Amino acid sequence: MPDDQPLPTPLLERLAALLGPRGILTEAADLEPHLADWRALYHGKTPCVLRPASTQELAEAVKLCAAAGAPLVPQGGNTSMVGGGVPDEGGRQIVVSLARLNRVRDIDPLDMTMTAEAGVVLKAAQDAAAEAGCLFPLSLGAEGTATIGGVLSTNAGGNTTVRYGNARELMLGLEVVLPDGQIWHGLRRLRKDNTGYALRHLFVGAEGTLGFITAAVLRLFPRPRESEVALCIVRDEDAALALFRRVRDRDETAVRAFEYMSGTGVELYRTQIEGGAVPLTGGAHYVLVDLASSRPDAGLRPLMEAVLEEALEAGEVLDATIAESEAQRAALWRIREEHPEAQKREGASVKNDVSVPVSRTPELIQHSSAALKALIPGSRPVPFGHLGDGNIHMNLQQPPGMAAAEFLARSHDIMDTVNEIVRELGGSFSAEHGIGRLKTDMMESWRGGAELDVMRRVKAAIDPLGLMNPGKVLP
Ligand code: FAD
Ligand code: MLT
Ligand code: ZN
Repeated sequence: MPDDQPLPTPLLERLAALLGPRGILTEAADLEPHLADWRALYHGKTPCVLRPASTQELAEAVKLCAAAGAPLVPQGGNTSMVGGGVPDEGGRQIVVSLARLNRVRDIDPLDMTMTAEAGVVLKAAQDAAAEAGCLFPLSLGAEGTATIGGVLSTNAGGNTTVRYGNARELMLGLEVVLPDGQIWHGLRRLRKDNTGYALRHLFVGAEGTLGFITAAVLRLFPRPRESEVALCIVRDEDAALALFRRVRDRDETAVRAFEYMSGTGVELYRTQIEGGAVPLTGGAHYVLVDLASSRPDAGLRPLMEAVLEEALEAGEVLDATIAESEAQRAALWRIREEHPEAQKREGASVKNDVSVPVSRTPELIQHSSAALKALIPGSRPVPFGHLGDGNIHMNLQQPPGMAAAEFLARSHDIMDTVNEIVRELGGSFSAEHGIGRLKTDMMESWRGGAELDVMRRVKAAIDPLGLMNPGKVLP
């Protein structure tokens, strides 16, 4: 059916009959929260939001939609930073929320696995693991809203990738509803399974363009018994990297997170977030070091103290504080986790979620900051993030006093400026947020040729009608 034709009324009636009143939303006020992304970059339209209660219901709904040629947009917590989970402005794309598939089906502390449905909120998955005496280690600022289906579909990274890997590394098996409505029952919990192409890995990071993830088998880990968190002011970006090396060289297994923040970002936290107290102020560069171990006698405190002492003597660390309680650890982490919210409250900002080899992070921050200040005088670079993974959020805050729209009109210049430097440093233009709608136009120049060609053929093979999340990922 042509893209500009409205969807046939019988389809909506059939979907309503299949899913019942709780399973389909059509009132404008109910649709609204599903139409705009977290950053309010996009505002789309949809005839309805489907909310199936089970995998089977979703599969039946997908069959009806496929027969009618209706495009579908999977949505989890709608915290995408690249507009991945919202429909376009055309009004034909049907949003499918996985929110009601929210059961933790099984936890096995011997296999160290959890089987969770797509709509389980990440924090709820962490809590369920903790109740069973285990750890589900994926952790990010949006964990109170983002869902298992969403974090897998974007292959989310977050704060603990340096230790546990990205979402992909935490997944053993998947259940998927394919674009024709078939269900693929791939919920295997095997550590070894070399049986042809690893299909499950195609759906992780596909951002909903190949099908719906409805459930997953996730890896669990032993719970940490000891942890230490320190906030440090470091001399500069090179000193931040030197500190990472120092701590890693002492005990690589102890590093749970290693996060960089700029003085500008910490100051935004202090001024924009309620109760935004910072124990060390006045620094230009900050690092948050988080050590954790499941061994009760790991000796993390002496380890942290020894590393910081060495780094102070070397002039890399200028000042540091180690949290003395769980409450203090949470307070230090809050400074880092509230960075996106603080940036949002300060006004318009442009995000550059980029990665480079870890060794090149100082150059990335230094060169990009200088180039961005030259591009838009008065603008404020706010680099922060996962230094231990080489993933820096090279974000730019508007100049005070500039109209937000005027600043945002320069978004592509800003992203191009950073990306040019990222390319020189051998990095990637999207480290963990994905492509969504925001970065599709970058795919040709970064992934063009054989790589994009194969991606297009995979898409055509699995979703020949092109109904899954059109306009996302592939240009
Ligand atoms: P949504 O935003 O709803 O969807 C994301 C994409 O996945 C869309 O393309 C959607 O169509 C698709 N999708 C969703 N569910 C399914 C499904 N069941 N099957 C198939 N496709 C599906 N990301 C990081 O990686 N690291 C961070 O540190 C990080 N920090 C963040 C902090 C804040 C404050 C915010 C707002 C976001 C942050 N993000 C981060 C981005 C975001 O949280 C992640 O991309 C997250 O994985 C999205 O999960 P979600 O459930 O909200 O998915
Ligand atoms: C984070 O790590 O907090 C987010 O991924 C970064 C961002 O909001 O730019
Ligand atoms: Zn991040």
